[in-house]
Amino acid sequence: MKNFNIALIPGDGIGSEVVSEGVKILKEIEEMDAAISFSFAEFPWGCEYYLEHGKMMADDGIEQLQPFDAIYLGAVGYPGVPDHISLRELLLQIRKGFDQYVNLRPITLLNPSLTPLKSKTEKDVDFLVIRENSEGEYSGAGDWLYKGKPEEVVLQTGVFSRKGTERIIRYAYEEARKSNRTLTSVSKANALNYSMVFWDEVFEEVGKEYPDVETYSYLVDAASLYFVAQPERFEVVVTSNLFGDILTDIGAAITGGLGLATGANVNPERNYPSMFEPVHGSAPDIAGKGIANPIAAIWSVSQMMDFFGEEKWGEAILSTIKTILKETEQLTPDLGGQGSTKSVGDRFVELLKDNR
Ligand code: NAI
Ligand code: MG
Repeated sequence: MKNFNIALIPGDGIGSEVVSEGVKILKEIEEMDAAISFSFAEFPWGCEYYLEHGKMMADDGIEQLQPFDAIYLGAVGYPGVPDHISLRELLLQIRKGFDQYVNLRPITLLNPSLTPLKSKTEKDVDFLVIRENSEGEYSGAGDWLYKGKPEEVVLQTGVFSRKGTERIIRYAYEEARKSNRTLTSVSKANALNYSMVFWDEVFEEVGKEYPDVETYSYLVDAASLYFVAQPERFEVVVTSNLFGDILTDIGAAITGGLGLATGANVNPERNYPSMFEPVHGSAPDIAGKGIANPIAAIWSVSQMMDFFGEEKWGEAILSTIKTILKETEQLTPDLGGQGSTKSVGDRFVELLKDNR
């Protein structure tokens, strides 16, 4: 019997609504698989906690999370709390504190009706974006000089360390080799004459150890165009923190929107817990209405199962998502249906039972 210890951070807005449905799926897996059990502990951190305590999480939050096998997060963000506080003081704190330097975002079209791209089908849109998740443009380094004065200057520095750049690129080569796919690096060396020239050099250098992996290298502007016009070019993509953030939103747009997009924040060495979360935010415009699409959060559970080495459950969840996406009427309004967060979660459990 394997027991996995999961820390739940439902967070704000629709975060807690969709995490409930994901937990429902986990409990069903536990029910169906005699070899697996889960224990859960819930942490009330987020913006409401901030409004009460003046901080996004407990002072020893990172220590409290350390013993868990995984963190399952909904979303944080609330009108009235500045976004740079909610993001930096919880999410980025966890990503950095636990050295979750790999962000895995699958860009997979699970039903052809979901893409706005004319004449593209599932076989054209099926790739994995591996985003650097610990430094780069989001390092937080910089300065704000002469604030409010006419000579005001702000500096936002990209930090690309050799260690940080090499390890993400190596991870991507390994992934491409393992799955026998091509690898595309996305950078911008023509304009960013230090960081991205360095990135490209490391990509080539590490590539010498992987002569079996076919590689491509695009500028980020061209890559943005190809994401939309020719997504079939991509199989595994590796890119920096900022570029990956933006590109994967294009990825979400061509695969059904934020209600489906998921991302895993992984510490590959497993020295620390990894974190699984939908890509979307707390969606204040629909929070509390019970109509948030839980499928992105459920897809996160699939990524978590893969990470635990329980790939059969990872695949079962993914194939159940494919099945449920055919039942258009029953889906949430963002996908054109009349279902609710809860009804989609309940239906999902039924289908997963049939699917195992
Ligand atoms: P958002 O992702 O919350 O919402 C964007 C749009 O997509 C909204 O119209 C929303 O209703 C819709 N949407 C998002 N998820 C959906 C779902 N599961 N089902 C149906 N519709 C969905 O992004 P926005 O509005 O830019 O940010 C809102 C708050 O969330 C901000 O405070 C922001 O900082 C925070 N945020 C947090 C993230 C996180 O915790 N990882 C990520 C992105 C934003
Ligand atoms: Mg984003």
